[in-house]
Amino acid sequence: MKAFVLRAYGSPDQLELTDLDEPVPGDDEVLVRVGATSINPYDWHNMRGQPYIARLMPGGLGLRGPKLSILGCDVAGRVEAAGQNVTGFGPGDEVFALLPQGGFAEYVSIPQSLLAPKPANLSCEQAAAVPMAAITALLGLRDQGRLQPGQTVLVNGASGGVGTFAVQIARALGANVTAVCSAPNAELARAVGAAEVIDYTTADFTRQEQRYDLLLDIAGSHRVRASRQALKPEGTFVAMGGPAGRWLQPAARMFAALALAPLVSQRMVMTDTVRSRRKNDNLVTLTELIEDGKVTPVIDRSYPFDDIPAAIRYQEQGHARGKVVVTV
Ligand SMILES: NC(=O)c1ccc[n+]([C@@H]2O[C@H](COP(=O)([O-])OP(=O)(O)OC[C@H]3O[C@@H](n4cnc5c(N)ncnc54)[C@H](OP(=O)(O)O)[C@@H]3O)[C@@H](O)[C@H]2O)c1
Repeated sequence: MKAFVLRAYGSPDQLELTDLDEPVPGDDEVLVRVGATSINPYDWHNMRGQPYIARLMPGGLGLRGPKLSILGCDVAGRVEAAGQNVTGFGPGDEVFALLPQGGFAEYVSIPQSLLAPKPANLSCEQAAAVPMAAITALLGLRDQGRLQPGQTVLVNGASGGVGTFAVQIARALGANVTAVCSAPNAELARAVGAAEVIDYTTADFTRQEQRYDLLLDIAGSHRVRASRQALKPEGTFVAMGGPAGRWLQPAARMFAALALAPLVSQRMVMTDTVRSRRKNDNLVTLTELIEDGKVTPVIDRSYPFDDIPAAIRYQEQGHARGKVVVTV
């Protein structure tokens, strides 16, 4: 099978298109022929080995070289074969999953505990846009944010992969959503469900009168202390991401939010999707929202498999309108 293999940290040029043997599924695994994958910041953090501090964290990036050899955490495809203990899936089933690695290949073996049936109304490309970005939005709003119907939520970074899902999921949970994005993306933010839009190039949400119940901080564009000013006294700040740096960011932002928690009246929490549990249950929840028509993936660009390095280069610029997907 064809796969992009990462042997050393570096730019997308480090990804080497290679011929490998097809993986053989273990007893509890399913062999999936990958139909599509998508690009996430998770991929290029693992590709570059940055921020460096993440190499020192338990369960983080590899210390001297990449821990992951085939990147790609989002997968949608068709089951080719199933191990002897697999009960819920069989050849021909269409599935999707959030994996630690392996999506930038024609085949991948996936533990059945990570798999969920693909939403019936989505193509493979659309389904591959969902796992990392939509689970992150769901966890941030529902679990860490404890969002209740009728509450107000500010989504900072509303027009990217996570943000376009977050606006839709917040609406589906009954919230009133204000989106922060640049002016060219205002129409997109409204189309996916934002009642108000703040253009971050002309207005600063931390200096406005309005106070929100929940701030989903995807863009991490202001210091945590400043962002907190946009919250009600009992509001919740969910740290999710921020501008990437070589040494510390965005990891340091997350810890800054947690460090502030004992000192302020607001709840200060963070989302960690990679370490989250029950990823397949969350995909089932998202499938219900998708099949009910409440959530639809927004796809900015689609690349062919051989152009994965170009897809990463584009996503890494940080201005995608929704998701960047790859057809395998
Ligand atoms: N904690 C977790 O478990 C977890 C999981 C997944 C992702 N993340 C993090 O979440 C972040 C976003 O991921 P993503 O996949 O959504 O990335 P993305 O698709 O690249 O989206 C980035 C978005 O941020 C917007 N943006 C840039 N500067 C901004 C600013 N100053 N104010 C408001 N919006 C701004 C961009 O809009 P414009 O084009 O208009 O600038 C773009 O739409 C990353 O930092 C990623 O590492 C965290």
